[in-house]
Amino acid sequence: MRHLSSSRLILGCLLGLLLGASPMQAALPQAPGFLAGQHAKNGIACAECHGKGRPVKVDDNETTVNEGCVRCHGSLKEVGAKAQGHINPHVSHLGDIACTACHGGHRGSWAYCGNCHGFELKIPFPATVMKPAEAAPKPPQPASVRRRERTDVVVIGSGAAGMVAALTAHDAGAKVVVLEKQPITGGNSMLAAGGMNAAATRFQAKKGIKDSVELMVKDTMTGGKNLNELELVKILAEQSAASVEYLTELGADLSDVGRMGGASVDRTHRPQGGKAVGAHIVDVLRANAVKRKLDVRVNSRVVRLLENRQGRITGVLVQGRHRGFYRIDAKAVVLAAGGFSANPERVAHYQPTFQGMTSSNQPGATGDGLDLGAAAGGVLKDMEQIQIHPSIAAGSRILITEAVRGNGAILVNREGKRFVNEITTRDAASKATLAQPGQSAFMVFDEGVRQSLKQIDGYFHLELVKEGATPEALAAAIQVPPQALKETLDRYNQAVAAKADAEFKRPDLPRALTTPKFYAIEVKPGVHYTMGGLKISTRTEVMAKDGKPIPGFFAAGEVTGGVHGANRLGGNSISETITFGRIAGAQAAAAAHAPVKP
Ligand code: FAD
Ligand code: FUM
Repeated sequence: MRHLSSSRLILGCLLGLLLGASPMQAALPQAPGFLAGQHAKNGIACAECHGKGRPVKVDDNETTVNEGCVRCHGSLKEVGAKAQGHINPHVSHLGDIACTACHGGHRGSWAYCGNCHGFELKIPFPATVMKPAEAAPKPPQPASVRRRERTDVVVIGSGAAGMVAALTAHDAGAKVVVLEKQPITGGNSMLAAGGMNAAATRFQAKKGIKDSVELMVKDTMTGGKNLNELELVKILAEQSAASVEYLTELGADLSDVGRMGGASVDRTHRPQGGKAVGAHIVDVLRANAVKRKLDVRVNSRVVRLLENRQGRITGVLVQGRHRGFYRIDAKAVVLAAGGFSANPERVAHYQPTFQGMTSSNQPGATGDGLDLGAAAGGVLKDMEQIQIHPSIAAGSRILITEAVRGNGAILVNREGKRFVNEITTRDAASKATLAQPGQSAFMVFDEGVRQSLKQIDGYFHLELVKEGATPEALAAAIQVPPQALKETLDRYNQAVAAKADAEFKRPDLPRALTTPKFYAIEVKPGVHYTMGGLKISTRTEVMAKDGKPIPGFFAAGEVTGGVHGANRLGGNSISETITFGRIAGAQAAAAAHAPVKP
């Protein structure tokens, strides 16, 4: 690496500014306080991070900058391998993310993990406020925006629905741009834990599980209190096995099958050993995007959909972190911008009783996709249908997957007693938990359950688990009456032996809780999923008030409403994102190739 004096460095930067640097780079004179200043002190030239071109340009993916970080410091994996200490922020379920997702050259740095985790992470030159860039309060009129690009298909959002739509459209021959407002891709999809529901798969057959499309439809409709749109549910179930095959062909492992709440049989698919499904799928989708050289842009927020006089969607207005506002003209747009569980104001607007509750969601789940769709004439439905998940670790935003209960854990209250069928639907389990003293519960399990589900290790790593060598010792650790907890476990184990839970009618009793050690995690309900959203057709076309589809406009995933009715079953969302993402991608590519009617 070349070393330059500070005065030459500052001169170089100023020159860059004069030659058209972005507003971000205009902050350069303040740089000495941040990482850029430290680099300057070490005699490292601007060009080492920004490249040698003039004018100095930083793309919204911050590609050149990140390449610069890796050139000197090594890859995320290499940096992670060097780190010591209990929590290693360079090795996480976020996967291979950009250095600049956390480290800022000309602004304070912030650990992205801190959006959800409560632990303190030291980071050089920390920001006082951990907050991603906000949308401009008032975007410009599209006609006044001079920067313009053209593509076949724009996909908004880089979660599972968006990435699958993008890959499908690309593979059907369309030129695709994916836009993601956060500094990392993956959305809530990356957090998905318990698994993906699918009926009549070869993985179920291998384990002798008898399931059918009809049973998945029935369970989903019952779980959703029949508010679901039956035609969409039928597609979800009919296509679910094909969606598992689709992901498997892309390189995913979904060979482990377990049970989640409200399902009549084991149909929740996840990686072998019971690893979390979301981080794995997102890794696979990212790798496939890289392989195809897909144009995926982070730090790129869509602020408006563009339409022509006939009401056809013709593109998007984007606010890039560095590029500022620009428009992309497109023949079709797929909206896959997720739900709004991380937007407390919006949640409280539709469900005032959920005010102040924690949420399991990533910070980008604010629901701006719903505003975009509604402003373009899309109809919103079931907006007040918001799901709380019964098991968020108390005092945190960490979801304790339903799969722990599916694999045998029970819920006990502060009196050491069970109070509900642990694998009932989420609304019922949450309601029962909120009725207990302290409005929380302890999820209790043994070593057998721990060994059955790899992702439980993560909860130990995050120090969320209390333990004891006997039920009584565990009871002391969580301050519940020891005799009561012992009796509860004995009664439950008798029910397992008898294959019948007379007390709470739990339908599936996978294993007795008899293998020391015994464990407990305190859990509370928290806002998890928004069932409402844009009304779509069976072809994922966004529907307008007149009952007709809006031409050129498709949507998939949590931003849509109708698949899950009044309550989503665990495991049905990832299934939905893959199936409807595939349909949206194919439809958008077809629309892009079709001659546009005048
Ligand atoms: P997301 O994955 O949320 O992606 C939407 C993306 O759009 C986000 O990255 C967002 O930042 C981006 N975006 C939003 N607005 C804009 C904009 N204006 N411009 C550009 N980008 C924008 N479901 C299951 O089926 N099984 C599970 O095991 C499971 N576990 C879960 C665990 C947790 C902790 C959470 C939070 C959810 C879980 N879910 C699970 C639900 C499921 O993960 C999500 O509902 C699903 O992944 C949503 O996928 P999506 O692609 O629709 O949206
Ligand atoms: O508990 C969970 O693993 C969450 C699953 C889901 O939201 O579908």
